[in-house]
Amino acid sequence: MTAYETIFVRRSARRYDKKALNERDLADIRQFLDSAKQLTGQSARFEIVNADKLRGCAAPHAVLAFAGDGDAAALNIGYALQGLDLYAQSRGLGSLWMGMAKPVEKREDYRCLLAFGKTDAPFRAGEQDFKRKSVWEISNEDNAVARAARLAPSAANFQPWKLDFSPGKVTVRYNGQGIGKLLVGGLQMIDLGIVLKYVELALEHEGKKAAITARGSGKSFAVEAAYT
Ligand SMILES: Cc1cc2nc3c(=O)[nH]c(=O)nc-3n(C[C@H](O)[C@H](O)[C@H](O)COP(=O)(O)O)c2cc1C
Repeated sequence: MTAYETIFVRRSARRYDKKALNERDLADIRQFLDSAKQLTGQSARFEIVNADKLRGCAAPHAVLAFAGDGDAAALNIGYALQGLDLYAQSRGLGSLWMGMAKPVEKREDYRCLLAFGKTDAPFRAGEQDFKRKSVWEISNEDNAVARAARLAPSAANFQPWKLDFSPGKVTVRYNGQGIGKLLVGGLQMIDLGIVLKYVELALEHEGKKAAITARGSGKSFAVEAAYT
């Protein structure tokens, strides 16, 4: 299954086989991470650790993401690790973004983690199985890119984004509401990076290549994907 196809069936897995993955699976994950695309000017660091190095994580492994401060750094983590979430699930593993779990060892530059391992949680049957906002709530157009973006995972399923299509360009803006609005920062910017990965994959699926630029900060943060 391709990353794009996985968008329509993936889910967060919360039940795991505690046993460590075999070396081959781990090597594949490591290799994917080593070549994971990051946004221009960003250089997050990723480390795979086992459950004994984590608090509050049911999976046998996790990728810890480390980066500097700021919205663009958080955006980049969401963008890069959502690629891994889709990759892990496309090869039959379970994965889960975790804002609540933490590494045992405290580090200033720690930002978030993505847990992974073997699971018996099945794929979703299709779009109808996702609990999400409608396309029109998250986009000014109903098209294939917006329909894929709509399915992106987000912290507490807040889906704090709005897509604005104009000729040759889609702008992704922060659009948190209610409690999510109070939380703008860390996880919400990771959420924007996650939906940006979906936008890029959906554009690629249509044969379009996106050039991504980010601007602003906090509630006025926006990312543009200009495509040809
Ligand atoms: C940045 C981020 C942090 C998250 N943190 C947690 C968490 O700490 N615990 C948890 O059970 N789920 C967590 N989730 C998973 C979301 O709750 C989940 O993605 C959302 O409810 C949508 O469900 P789905 O991924 O199955 O489509 C997190 C998701 C994201 C994107």
